[in-house]
Amino acid sequence: MSTFKAPKGTYDLIPPASATYLAVRDAIATPLRRSGYGYIETPGFENVELFARGVGESTDIVTKEMYTLTTKGGDELALRPEGTASVLRAALEANLHKAGSLPVKLWYSGSYYRYERPQKGRYRHFSQVGAEAIGAEDPALDAELIILAHDAYRSLGLRNFRILLNSLGDAECRPVYRAALQDFLRGLDLDEDTRRRIDINPLRVLDDKRDAVQKQLAGAPLLRDYLCDGCREYHARVRELITAQGVVFEDDVKLVRGLDYYTRTTFEFVHDGLGSQSAVGGGGRYDGLSEMIGGPALPSVGWALGVDRTVLALEAEGVRLDLPDATSVFAVPLGEEARKVLFGLVGELRKEGVAADFAYGGKGLKAAMKAANRSGARYAIVAGERDLAEGVVQLKDMESGEQESVPLTKIVTTIQSKLG
Ligand code: HAM
Repeated sequence: MSTFKAPKGTYDLIPPASATYLAVRDAIATPLRRSGYGYIETPGFENVELFARGVGESTDIVTKEMYTLTTKGGDELALRPEGTASVLRAALEANLHKAGSLPVKLWYSGSYYRYERPQKGRYRHFSQVGAEAIGAEDPALDAELIILAHDAYRSLGLRNFRILLNSLGDAECRPVYRAALQDFLRGLDLDEDTRRRIDINPLRVLDDKRDAVQKQLAGAPLLRDYLCDGCREYHARVRELITAQGVVFEDDVKLVRGLDYYTRTTFEFVHDGLGSQSAVGGGGRYDGLSEMIGGPALPSVGWALGVDRTVLALEAEGVRLDLPDATSVFAVPLGEEARKVLFGLVGELRKEGVAADFAYGGKGLKAAMKAANRSGARYAIVAGERDLAEGVVQLKDMESGEQESVPLTKIVTTIQSKLG
């Protein structure tokens, strides 16, 4: 064993468990691909300032959790803590908003980094699949995204998740609410850190998990009561559209989320089997972000679903994904001549789309059959000199143990028809 270990708060994805991660990414991406979202990939690091301005100077993500570095050339970079600011930066840089009709719909999948205190479901390196619809203010777009995330989770077989929904208002009504909330919070018995937060980011105080704080928040003014007519109507339309498609949600008037760019629609997908890290995904509308990073007004909406936590949610519900076999056929040659022939046959099967593997390392029959077993292959092809002299190979069904002689010329088609 090497003396090196994966850094704290990280873990390796290794077979066979890694196959579940790939399947989860794919299941989340599938509804996006069929809904007009194009794939985008951006660098793993960006200018620090992009996140400071985009995610918010006062958020935990920016003040405590970013991995920042200064390059030899003096650039201040940060490993990306999230995808929205990067995707919008890339879309603006490529002028995607000018090239075609709006919204520009994009999806992404990748690694994100936050220097958080590690615990189950909370890692310093984690994986998200996300979607962003840039440049349109339309309740149907917010509804589409919520429905697509819902469909993705359902397609994975998840049942015990809930959708929390709220509206955070806009540039017209939020400041009025903010001032009312600040007035209320200033009258409470709070520690110094939280008092500072009242000035910088009062809405985040609502998110404080401590009992002593939550008790005092019981009579806090609610944004719901301050929404302007535009925001109220918009929210009603979003609720109506998702309800019409049978998607059940809960109104959570205290949902604020940990990123500053949100306006109007905000939502979180939570799973009740995950303990304290229950948010499997989240998102919302961010109508001001483009201007915050120097772009034109481009009202937008999106979400990101955590792959790590989605896998934990599957485990919590005992859902086993129906994964395709990694290997369908395993070739076991006995002797040098057979090695040549079966090695060629494995190549042929692969070209025909059959997942095939080979007993490498010159193993004897016993060890090779053990390897065939471990590979999970449905069929083993065994051949020695005598078989080849007769122009056949032995095809063994690894489930039933039955074995039959098949002409070498027919083996590919025989396997194809057996595998269906
Ligand atoms: P977020 O809520 O910060 O939103 O992250 C989305 C999801 O990423 C979370 O619900 C969670 O599943 C996963 N996640 C976040 N941090 C960790 C961690 N330390 N360990 C494991 N999983 C984690 C965003 O990132 C926004 N960019 C979403 C968005 C897109 N809003 C609009 N567009």
